[in-house]
Parts: sequence; C-alpha cells; structure tokens
Amino acid sequence: MTVTASAPGKLIILGEHAVVYGKPAIALAIDRRIRCTLSKASETTVNGKAFDEDKHPYLKYMLRSSEHPVRIETESGIPPGSGLGSSAALSTSFLRALNKLNGTDIDDGTLAKDAFDVEYTVQGGASPLDTSASTHGYGVALNAPEDAGRHLWDISINGRTWSVRDIAIPEMTLVVGYTGLHAATGPLVEKVRRYKDRNTFAADIVDEIGRTTTDGLDALRKGDLVKLGKLMTHDHKLLSILGVSCNELNKLVDASLRHSYGAKLTGAGGGGSMMALTDEPEKVCEAIALHGGKPFVVRTGEHGARLE
Ligand code: PMV
Repeated sequence: MTVTASAPGKLIILGEHAVVYGKPAIALAIDRRIRCTLSKASETTVNGKAFDEDKHPYLKYMLRSSEHPVRIETESGIPPGSGLGSSAALSTSFLRALNKLNGTDIDDGTLAKDAFDVEYTVQGGASPLDTSASTHGYGVALNAPEDAGRHLWDISINGRTWSVRDIAIPEMTLVVGYTGLHAATGPLVEKVRRYKDRNTFAADIVDEIGRTTTDGLDALRKGDLVKLGKLMTHDHKLLSILGVSCNELNKLVDASLRHSYGAKLTGAGGGGSMMALTDEPEKVCEAIALHGGKPFVVRTGEHGARLE
C-alpha cells in the first residue's frame, strides 16, 4: 500500500513575535506545497537513500512510534529556511500519510496538535501558528477575539493555551521575496525576549503589534486591502524596531512599496522572506529581483493537509 498526502506552506500576514506574548496573529496558507508518499518497506529510506537520523530530525521524531520501516518520497515546492513554513508542511503532510498507512484517519484538530508537538520538540519552542495554518489551510488566527471567526481547536503545552480560529479571507495576490538568507527562529525569539525584559519601550511595541493585528482582522473581514496593506507596512516598522529585520529585508520591502498596498517581513525575520500585497505582481517581482531577492507570486485560498 502506498499513501500520499500534501500540505501547504504559509505566510504570517500580521502578528509574528507578538504572538509569543499572547497577542493575536494571522497566517494564510499559500499555493506552495510539500508532498509525502509513504509505503511499508524492509528498511527506512528517504528519496532513495538510507535514512540518516542526523539529516532528518523531523522525520526521526515522527518515526519514533512507527512499528515498521517506511519508504519515504518527498517533493517540495517550498524553499527550506525561507520562513514559508516548510517544516510545518512536512510535519502535517507526513503525519497525515503515516497515520493512514497505519490504518488511522486522524481529524484536523489531532493532526494540528501532533504536528505542533513535532515543531515544538525539534525546534525547541514555537507557537502553533504554522502547523495550524498548514493543517487547516485558507486563513487562521491565533489568540483572536471570538467574533473573528469559527473556533477550530485549542492547543496547549507547558501550561500555555492558544485558541485557533478559521478566518474568512478575500482573494489576494501576494509576492514573496526570499532574501536567500537562512535565519533560525529560536535566537530571534530570544532576542526579542531579552529586549522586552530589559525595556518597557519594547513591551509597548509588542502591544502595538497586537493592536495592528486586531485592526488587520477587521480589514480582512471587510476585504479592505488598502487598509490591510498600510497595517502590514506599519507592522514591518514595528518589527524593525524590535530588531528582527535586516538590511536585505528592508531593501526588498522598500523596493516593493511603490507597486503595493503594503509590504513586510514574514516569519521570524533576520533573513528569510518578505511579502508584498499587490495587484501589480509583475512589477513587484521585477523590483524584488532588481534588489537581490528571489521573487515568486503566491495566491491565498489554498486547502490544508490532505490525502491525495
Ligand atoms: O520562522 P517562522 O515562519 O516559523 O515564524 C516564526 C514566528 C514567531 O512568531 C517569531 C515564532 C512563533 O513560533 O510564533
């Protein structure tokens, strides 16, 4: 028996870093997916090669309870380390396929919790934003007010609980600009924590990101892309003040603004990717390429982790 599942990557449209302190955050699934094909085998292999635990920490953790070796084939349309949720998409697609291979169909709430456990353990701390967006697809918000959308599930770990809601999103075209720089999430989260512990000014910035995200939920509900774009650009400034942007990201954001409703870094920052909300994607792609970034157009409205 062979089982295939795929799952989307994501963009954080507002609220990264502040979500660590209980503020709301919004993520959208994008039309870039990871596909995992699994079958029972006599030894575990990954894309035709013997399984090397050190190279594949996520697979190592997810295979810990597998009763038999697995032949694993993966295909990815998400650049690794780009801040677009490749590890979450790997975890959600792999777990959906592995459960099916073992004769179980798990519901989305269980999948989101299990995939978050993988991210949390392997990465050493994370919010469940990426894994919930990859599981559910479309748009999700964490820590959002009750009227923001249908409650999907709660996720708890170490005494903390996040509530996850489905949010309606208008059709949008976004251009992603990948800096080509890989920056690990953990140290950037720590940097903000140190800044915030030392400085009440940094705590004010985190509060302001929270308010900006709440306004963003309202703009999304109304389909007001002009307002949403302004909020995104404002959020980028706040994240820069927190010290998680970098020259490469700032250059790509600046270059995109002429042809966009707004632009910001997405994810942890320090490298990775930025995104611009636009209805002139070709012009934004040109501007990003001219300033040293790797552009690609993404569309929203993408479904979540699914068996194929
Ligand atoms: O680097 P990413 O795309 O996993 O995003 C990290 C987002 C943070 O808010 C900085 C951390 C988190 O786990 O929510």
